Amino acid sequence: MDNKALEALLNDMSLEEKVMQLVQIPGSEYEADAEITGVTRGQANEKVKQLAGSTLGVWGSKRIKKIQEKYMKEHPHHIPLMFMLDVIHGHKTVLPCPLGQGATFDPEAVKAGAAMQAREASADGIHATFSPMADLCRDARWGRIMESTGEDKYLNSCMAAAMVEGYQGDDLKDPDHIAACVKHFAAYGAAEGGRDYNNTELSEHTLREHYLRAYGEAVKKNPAMVMTSFNTINGIPATGNRFLMKKILREEFGFKGVLISDWAAVGEMINHGFAEDQKDAAYKAMMAGVDIDMTSGCYSGNLEELVKSGAVSEKMLDEAVLRVLNMKNDLGLFEDPFRGIDMEEGAKINEESRQLARKTAAQSLVLLENKGKALPLRKEKNAFIGPYANTKRLQSSWAFSGEDENTVTVFEAASSAYDEGSIKCAEGCTMMDQDAVTARGVCHVDNWQEENDRLLKEAVETAEWADTVVLCLGEDSTQSGEATSKASLKLPEVQLRLLDEIEKTGKRIVTLIFTGRPLELKEAVELSDALMVCWLPGTEGGNGVMDVLSGKVSPSGRLPVSFPYTVGQEPLHYDMYATGRPKPENGPSEYTSRYLDCENGALYPFGYGLSYTAFEYGEPKLSAERMSAGETLTASVTVRNTGKMKGDTTVQLYIRDVTGSRVRPVRELSGFRKISLEPGEEAEVRFDINEEMLRFWTAEEKWESEPGKFNLWLCDNSRDGRPMEFWLER
Ligand code: GLC
Repeated sequence: MDNKALEALLNDMSLEEKVMQLVQIPGSEYEADAEITGVTRGQANEKVKQLAGSTLGVWGSKRIKKIQEKYMKEHPHHIPLMFMLDVIHGHKTVLPCPLGQGATFDPEAVKAGAAMQAREASADGIHATFSPMADLCRDARWGRIMESTGEDKYLNSCMAAAMVEGYQGDDLKDPDHIAACVKHFAAYGAAEGGRDYNNTELSEHTLREHYLRAYGEAVKKNPAMVMTSFNTINGIPATGNRFLMKKILREEFGFKGVLISDWAAVGEMINHGFAEDQKDAAYKAMMAGVDIDMTSGCYSGNLEELVKSGAVSEKMLDEAVLRVLNMKNDLGLFEDPFRGIDMEEGAKINEESRQLARKTAAQSLVLLENKGKALPLRKEKNAFIGPYANTKRLQSSWAFSGEDENTVTVFEAASSAYDEGSIKCAEGCTMMDQDAVTARGVCHVDNWQEENDRLLKEAVETAEWADTVVLCLGEDSTQSGEATSKASLKLPEVQLRLLDEIEKTGKRIVTLIFTGRPLELKEAVELSDALMVCWLPGTEGGNGVMDVLSGKVSPSGRLPVSFPYTVGQEPLHYDMYATGRPKPENGPSEYTSRYLDCENGALYPFGYGLSYTAFEYGEPKLSAERMSAGETLTASVTVRNTGKMKGDTTVQLYIRDVTGSRVRPVRELSGFRKISLEPGEEAEVRFDINEEMLRFWTAEEKWESEPGKFNLWLCDNSRDGRPMEFWLER
């Protein structure tokens, strides 16, 4: 439909019809077993069901076709209903959780994964996904860190931009693509105490320099939507925050798409103490520019009255409605309300999507220890022990449209890779301690102690049989994601007991950690010969893990988030400030910024990861020691594979502005390059540095660079390497 026709449609709509285009209701209003991702507040009335502009949480080609046919017949202007769903790391074929995808340091792989998700979701009738989540996360206590790509603004920017491109492609009318939604705007990951939905207190320079960056880079890729976040920022709820939504998002970022609230977030401004009632909440959300009210009922119950009274102008209403109609038009829904739906079978897993999921899973794994080259596994007797050894639950709580039975478990993959007589499996213990709390409630197991005693006995016997034990431990997938904040990052007691007992057998131990967040791994490191983080690796997780354990693929993942010694260090991030009394690497540290009982830095830092081969860095070089604003500096280093296996490594570029009108982080990731090298092969990696990369929010409240000295590293992670120096001249 052309713009003229859209305008004509808008002008022909009744006030009620216009208001309802801004209303999103749960899919359960149309389909009983829709996925509900929030607290529902009773049923929508028939009129709202008939006129609501969009719905979420329902999928399936036949189901959606049926709903759409009925809806369009009953709609006075036959405007198509828009179907949205959280497809954040997979629809039928589930990829590693986003934190694992961050660990790939491979935006092209992440983009291909988003495109695959879009194809599958579109075949099942989905028009828009609520992804990418571009929230910066420095606090492992916050369970939604699993849905992010980690603690670094630059890595998050690259990944969020890649996901928007992958989901949307070049043209939203292409039925293999769906609309993206950048969320949660903004700074949701800075929740005080790591407690979900909690307040965030951020200075404008921290907000701008760190927390807003990835949203801004993702918006440059023209996502169809942005979603408001649940939190308050400096006392004002995001969903009613005009500074964020009008000044930053619309004016500075130039976002022209649809702004949707998070689930019931409009109405929750009452709980926050920011709105008096639903009418006031609807008013404040409209004034902040929120186009779609997701499920709160504030718009459907009050917006018509607000417009009639003149509190909200019809012009403002029309602008919001036109943005929603434009989105439907961009998707081609007016021409084809069933665009993308595969009427025969709907979305299905195929070999190609499995191969992509398998490759990405292997790329996401981060090898943290490999003492005495315990890995790759030897062709001998290998026992796979632990609650993650043979479970099909290798995807996150957000991959609800993927079926667990499609998952390849670690032991199933091992059975395909090794002779039957050379491997054994034992559960070892329950996944969680008795009465552990998950997002879904308390997990209680009858006869828990007896069951665990039995499992432990069986596991020790299995270990006695083996030469090597692959110990598959971690955090249950229902213990990360929304509303899953935790004050402890320890592995469950029952798993630590299993680790202890297996260690007593004296066997070689390769520990795999499946998790949606950083955990405290000190005990596991001390008692294991090798240790690898596997995140929540998805449908092909077992095969991806075995491809690395067997040595078919050398591990190449790098930590997208710091792993602490203890939760007491959280929030923890590598790009910290020096302070006036930095703790020296060596030598006396009294009267310095330190803990009496713990290191300042991470047990394993951002950017860290081992390979089966070895890489040697040559002398890094700078093309000049001075540059002015219009010039480019080139930093280069030669990297050589000095080992016996092919491997990938990620060369990281960090920069530090040594002196500024505001203090600057001790280093900031400003580039990375993943390269693949055969044994003996070397490659030169080059990065161009320009003045724009050196800008920050200065004391004069401007986004500018300042002349002076800079340090620059070309290295292997955020802690190591020797800095070079260059000067920026005015
Ligand atoms: C949830 C989440 C958000 C999700 C939305 C729709 O509460 O905060 O990430 O996209 O509701 O399911």
